[in-house]
Amino acid sequence: MFDHLMAPPPLTDPHELKAFVVDEGHGVKGLAELKIKSLPALFIQPLEKRLDMSKVVPHESIPVIDMSNSEDPEVEQRICDAAENWGFFQIVNHGVPASVLEDVKEATRRFFDLRADEKKKYLFKNSRTKNVRLVTSFIPEVDKVLEWKDYLSCFYVSDDEAMAYWPSVCRDQVLEYMNKSESLIKRLLEVLMKRLGISELNETNEPILKGSRRINLNYYPVCPNPELTVGVGGHSDVSTLTVLLQDEIGGLYVRKLHSENWVHVPPIKGCLTINIGDALQIMSNGRYKSIEHQVVANGHENRISVPIFVNPRPSDVIGPLRETMRRGEKGLYKQVLYSDYVKHFYRKSHNGKDTIDFAKA
Ligand code: OGA
Ligand code: NI
Repeated sequence: MFDHLMAPPPLTDPHELKAFVVDEGHGVKGLAELKIKSLPALFIQPLEKRLDMSKVVPHESIPVIDMSNSEDPEVEQRICDAAENWGFFQIVNHGVPASVLEDVKEATRRFFDLRADEKKKYLFKNSRTKNVRLVTSFIPEVDKVLEWKDYLSCFYVSDDEAMAYWPSVCRDQVLEYMNKSESLIKRLLEVLMKRLGISELNETNEPILKGSRRINLNYYPVCPNPELTVGVGGHSDVSTLTVLLQDEIGGLYVRKLHSENWVHVPPIKGCLTINIGDALQIMSNGRYKSIEHQVVANGHENRISVPIFVNPRPSDVIGPLRETMRRGEKGLYKQVLYSDYVKHFYRKSHNGKDTIDFAKA
């Protein structure tokens, strides 16, 4: 925060503004805390990138599935149907303790409440490891217009590595959340594979489906003109699947399959949101859908969310699984090195579903 004795940061020059938010650890959170009255041009998104509220269908929602009896064939069917028809669903009674979820949200707030000079240590240019980075917008080096979001992204290597490099104000809670969601992730993948004719996770398929993980702590500060910008622009995740924890604010919208319409993902206490990512759309040969989603900015409240991206290993070559083409179906996607796919994602600003074109046969 700036007290009145310090010179205010120069907010009129776009280069200096960008340096303030992107390079000095302030983030958009630091900008929001200056109580600016209107949104700087740097964040004003072209119309086609903003959510057109007239396309939001108010009376529909993604499936909500009770996982307490996940061996029940009916539950398995609901999970697979949701993955095919929505690509997104919410789960209750998922086995991750409520206290673990509360703790990781609290830890996220604690990290973003650090002073800029503390947070600055985690910017890519200063970070002691390439596996931890604090970012504003999506890719500030590439984004022509910035998104109204700060995030800390941590690639998991091992507990020891996390203990050495992840911020101490949040790492224990984040690790606990990752640990406690492990069996849920495994169960979801088992269920989804079963419909594809793969009866078990084993040494061969398990690493390709879930061999690496990335966790992001997302912070969407209150915004002076939320309708002119985005929290996150429309995109699909590059994961196999994503486990998303959101707080009680709301603002995540999901595209309805094969339509121009969007549905809101309402926060439900204790719930986790699951979505299919591009890697599983590719591996299931298009059967499971990686759906475009976006987050709007909020004019009244700060919002946080914490996605775990469950991914193939960077060194894996992914393509449609053999079992998905048993009846002579054509492969819709070619074999791609997963790290190449991810690199492609991080080379361009968010642009809907276009990442997957990289793998089209
Ligand atoms: C993401 C994402 C949604 C949210 O981080 O990829 O889509 O609700 N987040 O923050
Ligand atoms: Ni996403």
